[in-house]
Amino acid sequence: MGFHTFDPESADRLEDESRYRYLSREELVGALALGSDRDDTVADLGSGTGFYTDDVAPFAGEVRAIDVQAEMHELYREKGVPQNVELMTADVGDLPFADGELDAAFSTMTFHEFAGDGDSAGAGAEDDAKTGAEDGVGAGADDDAKTGADDGTGAGVGPGAETEVARVLTDGGRFVVADWSANGDGESGPPVTERYDRDDAVELLEKANLEVLRADERPETFFVVAER
Ligand SMILES: C[S@@+](CC[C@H](N)C(=O)[O-])C[C@H]1O[C@@H](n2cnc3c(N)ncnc32)[C@H](O)[C@@H]1O
Repeated sequence: MGFHTFDPESADRLEDESRYRYLSREELVGALALGSDRDDTVADLGSGTGFYTDDVAPFAGEVRAIDVQAEMHELYREKGVPQNVELMTADVGDLPFADGELDAAFSTMTFHEFAGDGDSAGAGAEDDAKTGAEDGVGAGADDDAKTGADDGTGAGVGPGAETEVARVLTDGGRFVVADWSANGDGESGPPVTERYDRDDAVELLEKANLEVLRADERPETFFVVAER
């Protein structure tokens, strides 16, 4: 698992409301299809400072904010954490949930950091293994490291943390992913070489036995809704 080290010094960029240019509260909450009684248990995978966690919390029963860096949780605490949000320091590849425990999960601008990291000799050589250092969300965040497996040696990407996400979702539970696309211009976010595109994401999610309900390629991001 190639979790990266997002620089907490850059965390203020995560609180910039101009980010709604790339993903709005409305499309995120709508895609999660949470119950109208607002009692679903939802996880935000790679929650950072909780910018989108805060948007989802009013529509859920409980939200688990998962981040591998305790320092990101500290910044979220300083901002103020909604009463129904629990901060949990964990890697998406090793989630502290029982099988089928979550009604839904989402991940914003982080999928490229945890998905498809495993090695698998059987995977296609055209796939990249991405073990990134962190992207930022703004310009100049070009400090990612990439371990490519696209050198024709036959080594390819294997299952990553998306398989763990599938494990903890209940049957019919949704996993909503918004992330920077490899087909974007790189006007913001990580370098395009560090990104997946929609088709990569669909392939990874389907390999994890999730059913893809919707997959959009957009100017700078992709948006995928999958179901267990
Ligand atoms: C670019 S930030 C995005 C934060 C948040 N999703 C948002 O959109 O505001 C990525 C976050 O994911 C966390 N992260 C990266 N890889 C992770 C992993 N494997 N498990 C858990 N958290 C991870 C980082 O620590 C960082 O806080």
